[in-house]
Amino acid sequence: MKVIMLGAPGAGKGTRAALLSEKLSIPHISTGDIFRANIKNGTELGKLAQSYMDKGELVPDSLVCDLVVDRIQQPDCENGFILDGFPRTIPQAEALKEALDSIGEKLDHVINVYAPDEHIVNRMSGRRSCSQCGAVFHVEFAPSSKGDICDKCGGSLIQRDDDKPETVKKRLEVYYEQTYPLLEYYEKQGLVKTVDATGGVETALSDLLKAIGA
Ligand code: AP5
Repeated sequence: MKVIMLGAPGAGKGTRAALLSEKLSIPHISTGDIFRANIKNGTELGKLAQSYMDKGELVPDSLVCDLVVDRIQQPDCENGFILDGFPRTIPQAEALKEALDSIGEKLDHVINVYAPDEHIVNRMSGRRSCSQCGAVFHVEFAPSSKGDICDKCGGSLIQRDDDKPETVKKRLEVYYEQTYPLLEYYEKQGLVKTVDATGGVETALSDLLKAIGA
């Protein structure tokens, strides 16, 4: 199954993609995580990406498209994948379509993860991510049982640099300008299912499975 998670920054795409990935045993591919890993490892891609991410802007399409097109052709994607944070622009969506067309494949579902802007600001300020495995927590809504230590791998939990309030504001503006139009793009293809992410995370997996008819 080939799934895209769409939604505003902090709406809960990553949290839901991780749950669905485990349930369906298909890879969770987050372009944000790929860039953060490159930043951590000090690669050239990481240095370039950081200059955009720190300002809350999108990394240029030219740096993202080939990377994802290559990733989804790896053997672990044979039974599908969940794309989280890609595509984010119409040219990215077109690059994905071209890549899938070339191997005779198509997308199955586009999940629109919806939460209102006021929830988003709270979620980002309380988000903590594991510095080792990338697992995502929230100090109030989804805390680790070990405080600042990751429940899953024992790594330390950190706050993302781009979760500062002024950067969050810019990320939301960029979302509405550049990514929101993708909803209409995929609605025209009859692919969009919206899940309401305003409730707690407890019902997230069952809501997703219902949305994709699994
Ligand atoms: P990326 O890492 O993709 O960030 P994002 O889209 O802004 O999304 P987030 O990771 O912030 O949020 P999320 O929706 O996954 O929410 P989460 O599940 O963590 O991208 C970062 C940057 O990289 C971009 O700004 C850009 O510069 C660059 N980039 C990445 N991809 C790119 C691309 N394709 N093209 C160009 N540039 C690109 O949840 C948030 C918090 O809320 C968590 O703490 C969670 O525990 C909590 N939470 C989740 N659900 C609930 C709930 N129901 N109730 C209460 N709390 C909840």
